[in-house]
Amino acid sequence: MNENIIIINCGSQFTQLIARRLREIKIHSVILNWDISHETLKSYEPKGIIISGGPDSVNNPEAITIDEEILKLGCPVLGICYGMQLLAKLSGGLVTSGTSSEYGVTEIFRTNEKSSLLPDGKIKVLMSHGDNVSRLPEGFKATSRTQSGVISSIENEVIKFYGLQFHPEVNDTEHGDEIIKNFVFKICKCSGDWDLENWVEATISSIRETVKNEKVVCGLSGGVDSSVSATLVNKAIGENLQCVFVNHGLMRLNEPEEVMKQYERIGLNVIYVDASEKFLSELAGVTDPEKKRKIIGRLFIEVFEEEARKIDGAKWLLQGTIYPDVIESGTKKGSALIKSHHNVGGLPEKMNLKLLEPLRDLFKDEVRALGKIIGMPEEIISRQPFPGPGLAVRCLGEITKQRLDVLREADAIFREELKRAGLYKDIWQAFCVLLPVKSVGVMGDSRTYNEAVVLRAIHSQDAMTAEWSRIDFDVLDKISKRICNEVKGINRIVLDVTSKPPATIEWE
Ligand code: XMP
Repeated sequence: MNENIIIINCGSQFTQLIARRLREIKIHSVILNWDISHETLKSYEPKGIIISGGPDSVNNPEAITIDEEILKLGCPVLGICYGMQLLAKLSGGLVTSGTSSEYGVTEIFRTNEKSSLLPDGKIKVLMSHGDNVSRLPEGFKATSRTQSGVISSIENEVIKFYGLQFHPEVNDTEHGDEIIKNFVFKICKCSGDWDLENWVEATISSIRETVKNEKVVCGLSGGVDSSVSATLVNKAIGENLQCVFVNHGLMRLNEPEEVMKQYERIGLNVIYVDASEKFLSELAGVTDPEKKRKIIGRLFIEVFEEEARKIDGAKWLLQGTIYPDVIESGTKKGSALIKSHHNVGGLPEKMNLKLLEPLRDLFKDEVRALGKIIGMPEEIISRQPFPGPGLAVRCLGEITKQRLDVLREADAIFREELKRAGLYKDIWQAFCVLLPVKSVGVMGDSRTYNEAVVLRAIHSQDAMTAEWSRIDFDVLDKISKRICNEVKGINRIVLDVTSKPPATIEWE
């Protein structure tokens, strides 16, 4: 059994960082949404609870709050920023809005009270808040204040409740690691012995226990997350896992065939559905990016559902949800738990399926490492992210089989040349975009009037931000010449030199 620290996510941009910091010190954490019930939270047998920051004000009547019974579970609790204000308010303190906002790096000063979390003296910290705790709850001490006297940390040693007005999880905060370590090791008494190999074994047995002899269906996309989850579950329950791979006709050159071959090598039980004609006919004439996405999302669900219904006795739906997806999905009131571009969102309830998400506590690099541990081929593990709607969001304007084929050929050349130059594995994402813009060219003695291809290559950590890749000019020249010479219908190549923000990675 893992030693769990529960992170209650109240919508902070830094929630994922808290989990990262914990993982660096070999602590397993589970991120749960703010609306989690105390019963469910208790079932994780937490050693401690961290309540994250969030953009709200606890004084807003609509503000998110947590199930107050959570505070009676007897676990140590650390509230960060909004989490501290919530903890203070729910424990009987007073939070005042807007009197002394503080944003950015600032200094806090230790009071004379003893602290279990903070070192003595002055500490540089990152603050980002508009509210502050103006009256301490009973039994709490203020262990630090800002220059202007605002309470910046609170502690109650008896019930083991702690609050930090600043963010210990960001690099800008001095001694942040030490503060987090103090909480998890000294206060929560965690041992810090989490490791992926043990996790694999424990997870395989827990999948067996949970699923028993029931059947599981899984929609495979060829991507890392769904492929690794399927391989893991396959190890646990073998034939009782039935995967479905829907070819929507929007994959890259030879991709459906290659992906199916890889699945065969792994030994997955996969039904292949070629729905490309259905997708292409419904997409005909559609140029609006959102309409394209909606059509693809709806058709994907229809096709997958039709196949899944044929699988006798299916009780579970396996999804490749990973840590960042959990964080991005639903921190707002009433929002759904599954991210909208998770292709089978909405299906579990509709089909009365239970959801199985074995990777929900893993980061992307851990999912790749897990793939290696369970013996998956390198081609799958190191595959670059590919959007669910596929080439539809890279084929601007109308989607036709002919335009998709042009894009596929150009894209294959781009990636092939990057591989040849030894650049592909270090680029986070590289692909071509086909523009519905014609320009004049000359080939041999003839005038051409053809569409243009954009080369898009970026570096990123998590797709939230991205930097355009500086590819060697000679390599670019070779790519440009090859595409113009080999791909009929293209006479101009342009390079996208925009980072994210302001641009997104995909063009649609
Ligand atoms: P953007 O274009 O928003 O993309 O900067 C960020 C990352 O997400 C991928 N992406 C998608 N993935 N379904 C997906 O599964 C989608 O609808 C989708 N749209 C964008 C994109 O390739 C990039 O890695």
